[in-house]
Amino acid sequence: MTARLTLLTGLVWSLALGELAAQEHGVRRGGAAATPADTLSAPPTLRNRSTIPGVVEVTLTAAPARLPLLPGAPTDVFAYNGRIPGPTLEVHEGDRVIIHFHNELPEPTTVHWHGLNLPADADGSPFYPVAPGGQFDYVFTIGPGTAGTYWYHPHPDGRAGYQVAKGLFGAIIIRAADDPLPASIPEKLLILSDNRFRLDGSIDLPDPNSPQGQVDMENGREGDVLFVNGQIMPTVPIRSGEVQRWRIINAAAARIFRLALPGQPVLQVGTDGGLLERPKEVGEVLLANSERVELLVRGDGPPGSRTTLQTLAYDRYVPQTRPEDWNRSRDLLSLSYSRQPPLRRVALPGALRAIPALDTTQAIARRVVVLTQGLINGKAMDMDRVDFHGRLGTTEIWEIENLVGMDHPFHLHGFHFQVLDRNGVPEPYRSWKDSINVPRHETVRIIVRFDGYAGKWMFHCHILDHEDQGMMGVLQLN
Ligand code: C2O
Ligand code: CU
Ligand code: CU
Repeated sequence: MTARLTLLTGLVWSLALGELAAQEHGVRRGGAAATPADTLSAPPTLRNRSTIPGVVEVTLTAAPARLPLLPGAPTDVFAYNGRIPGPTLEVHEGDRVIIHFHNELPEPTTVHWHGLNLPADADGSPFYPVAPGGQFDYVFTIGPGTAGTYWYHPHPDGRAGYQVAKGLFGAIIIRAADDPLPASIPEKLLILSDNRFRLDGSIDLPDPNSPQGQVDMENGREGDVLFVNGQIMPTVPIRSGEVQRWRIINAAAARIFRLALPGQPVLQVGTDGGLLERPKEVGEVLLANSERVELLVRGDGPPGSRTTLQTLAYDRYVPQTRPEDWNRSRDLLSLSYSRQPPLRRVALPGALRAIPALDTTQAIARRVVVLTQGLINGKAMDMDRVDFHGRLGTTEIWEIENLVGMDHPFHLHGFHFQVLDRNGVPEPYRSWKDSINVPRHETVRIIVRFDGYAGKWMFHCHILDHEDQGMMGVLQLN
């Protein structure tokens, strides 16, 4: 533990304490509260009803509900345990997890544990639908080295986009036995989503044959209302000098977030499958659908000031269906400095963990995955077809080629991969991923080792409308 606590010295994190204190003096006006209200509410954690150490046993119910998503009229939704986002599943590496799931929806559903390595029958893939009124026990064990931020969402054949739009999504946090980041750093969970509403407050899910329905199918359905944990523009208070650890999930069906905190240096410490090898300073972060990122946000601003977490303009579209306001940045959350004097700098580790490179010379198969509009390798998904046959315990290299004029975020179930290169340019750092954006006309090569479970595993575009239309394939492992 001590060995890996090499301190980050100097860098952007050095804090001019005297200077901040002076500024604080200047901005203080009589009467204002010392600490801005924290209006970001994290979803509650699913209650563990097991008393056996190392066992997490919870109940999750999907059911229709009426919730106030917007100020004013309540909205008819689908919700996990009556709330949006659903409660957070919080577990530790090594835990045995039992989820008693009840489907009280009027239609079949599944719960997919996005990014987890688990038995195929617990994956909640379209192969295992749960009928209306039915129930299913998802049982799996959390693997070592998988600590990180994940999420769960429905994955029924052809209906994932609809059910997520209706409100079904929630976070998973896997904690490590020894996390290299100091436990004293406060943590925030930020589940990003969007939605579109009609004037009466109902969710706008247009007829697929209407003009808007056609655009939604092409682009993936985007909403003009942006949510963080189901809230619009919440405020997160921070104190000068304080470091916060933000776990961010892109739970939107199609929107890609290009995140920035103007004026505020940020360290990226993690991706989909947990921590990086070392922190990386970033100016902005592109977070495609289903991707996760962990950031350390340091309160470098003066007491009493504020900044905004924004999503900047990002062009992922074909020109014909690009939304009119695509080039506008949007605000997500306000980061508000308290008027308290600056905190002392906390020591951050310079190294987080080792991620050994998967060995390319061990790859026994090289596969090409060609993405075109709605199709993978020229085919739409067929549940009765197996696209790729592979073997457990082997390594493969997949070359994912996007031949068309819009981005397609590619996701593989059940196994984490490493990115080798993008358009032939080697990936500058290593991380564990389960989703990767493949920008228009670009090629990404990934390497994956199939350590885990036999069975059928989905791979697909994570724009939910594309997935539902069949932009998905099946990998069978024996
Ligand atoms: Cu997040 Cu197959 O999905
Ligand atoms: Cu998945
Ligand atoms: Cu796509």
